[in-house]
Amino acid sequence: MCKESENEWFRGWFNSPYYHILYKHRDDAEAANFLDALIGELALPRGAAILDLACGKGRHAIYLHHKGFNVTGLDLSEESIKQAMESANEGLIFHTADMRTFSLNEKFDAVFNLFTSFGYFDQKSENVQVIQRIHAHLNDYGIFVMDYFNPATVCCFKHSGDLHIDGIQFHITKKIENDHIIKTIEISDQGQQKQFIERVQLFSLDEMINMLESNGFKVLHTKGNYFMDDFMEKTSDRMIIIAQKS
Ligand SMILES: C[S@@+](CC[C@H](N)C(=O)[O-])C[C@H]1O[C@@H](n2cnc3c(N)ncnc32)[C@H](O)[C@@H]1O
Repeated sequence: MCKESENEWFRGWFNSPYYHILYKHRDDAEAANFLDALIGELALPRGAAILDLACGKGRHAIYLHHKGFNVTGLDLSEESIKQAMESANEGLIFHTADMRTFSLNEKFDAVFNLFTSFGYFDQKSENVQVIQRIHAHLNDYGIFVMDYFNPATVCCFKHSGDLHIDGIQFHITKKIENDHIIKTIEISDQGQQKQFIERVQLFSLDEMINMLESNGFKVLHTKGNYFMDDFMEKTSDRMIIIAQKS
């Protein structure tokens, strides 16, 4: 049995094919619908420079480029970036780097961190490091969009279950411990057993706003789903924060 280390669990899990199989419903169509609504809300000019931080295989970055933006995608997963690079083009580039330490020779009009690509680290200082890196890579008055889960509703999701996808069996259990949601994913694939962990911090809206506002951002809007409806603490699926470098 191959068991991922719980520390820095995100290195192995997101780089494995199993992550992409389990989350295959989080697809290009979902990304396009969300981005159409988000772009409408932000009114960014055509040609604006956008950083998709933790871009995965680039489903958002590729669509943003298609909509006329200059896009850079960055992710820690070499496998995901390898795949994203197949779509690289003038105005669409990708880098493998760590969001805690990245340093690019460019500033952006907007940085997007989408589909819960934060809250993975053990130390509060590592979260702050990420926010500071984002701040340093934004132009004056640049926009930061954080798309996170709503802690109030993520806790209500089904706690365990079995899924069969592409001939692979996933047995999933979830628990809440020390302000983290911990998902254990046991996989059975052609007689081979593997186990991965997802461990993501629960942040209330106030905690998120506080982290941003103490690191040089002003929060402009909070949205609650991919249609850009306003955030409702008790019922919204997502917690989407639109902030501006101040
Ligand atoms: C939930 S996935 C979302 C990917 C992409 N935003 C999407 O919506 O398809 C989280 C992403 O964060 C990336 N990631 C995790 N830790 C990272 C780090 N320290 N630096 C950069 N990327 C990281 C993972 O490799 C993974 O692609």
